[in-house]
Amino acid sequence: MASNSIGFRMEQFNGKTAVVTGAGSGIGRALATRCAGEGMRVALADVHEGRLNDLRTKLEGEGAQVLACTLDVSDAAAVSAFARQCCAELDVPDLLFNNAGILRIGEAWSHSPEDWQIILSINVLGVVHGLNAFVPPMLEAGKKAHIVNTGSVGSLVAAPAMAQYTAAKMAVRGITETLAHDLAAREALIDVSLLCPGPVLTSISDDLLGVEASSEEVDPADHLMVGQPDFITPEECADRVFRAIRERRFWIFTHPFNQYISDNTQAIVTGENPVYREVAFD
Ligand SMILES: NC(=O)c1ccc[n+]([C@@H]2O[C@H](COP(=O)([O-])OP(=O)(O)OC[C@H]3O[C@@H](n4cnc5c(N)ncnc54)[C@H](O)[C@@H]3O)[C@@H](O)[C@H]2O)c1
Repeated sequence: MASNSIGFRMEQFNGKTAVVTGAGSGIGRALATRCAGEGMRVALADVHEGRLNDLRTKLEGEGAQVLACTLDVSDAAAVSAFARQCCAELDVPDLLFNNAGILRIGEAWSHSPEDWQIILSINVLGVVHGLNAFVPPMLEAGKKAHIVNTGSVGSLVAAPAMAQYTAAKMAVRGITETLAHDLAAREALIDVSLLCPGPVLTSISDDLLGVEASSEEVDPADHLMVGQPDFITPEECADRVFRAIRERRFWIFTHPFNQYISDNTQAIVTGENPVYREVAFD
């Protein structure tokens, strides 16, 4: 479904401009590579300089025009400077992927206020900073465009030991739905999507492997889902994202889980107390 009724489908991407945050690894890297492969200019941001430079070298070697900025998306001023540089050196973006994010686990009462600050400032404010910096020039340019914010299955489902991640990703869902309404109210030609990946084989869990379990009941390894058959590659994820952009769909699910969502929603409608059932794909 389109996010507004008057936008036009982005038929082709060649010669247009894409912005990807968290581009150094995983889903962001695959999105950036796909954009460059479609003939787009790409503005890439990541906090990890080495990963970013590696990708820049690869994409430039393949003939793409690349702007690479090492920055932390929780730094509003840095994201604003990145947006100004992107608009000046490449163009106002046609595709904006607010994708950078981190994963943290632990029981709901186990995180310090400082830990909360970190995850919310990256996973939530990182998206907000991308919108604040890029949407005004995109509106002013008045061209067809599409914004994809990366949420998660956790934007829809609360899982045990995931209070921080769930809080952040549900916030991203709220921001993204509201963004679609706000742009539609302005009759802007900008479509919006919420990417809700299921398990994608990336590095997101790597720094969890060293995290101490906060109690005997919560072992980080139980939440990594490593080795489960449902994992897809970041490239498959990017493929599903591009299909959704072409079809102007708001909800991007990398895995089918209609039955699961419908059962969960029905439980809310009938007033059942929450009972966690492991996420199941159709
Ligand atoms: N992999 C999955 O199964 C999965 C599932 C659901 C949602 N997601 C979401 O997908 C997005 C991408 O994650 P991924 O799985 O590709 O992980 P990843 O760790 O492979 O890549 C994330 C990239 O973001 C960068 N990054 C982290 N913090 C940053 C910051 N403050 N500023 C700028 N860059 C930063 C990292 O350096 C890394 O290069 C995240 O928002 C994540 O929550 C992933």
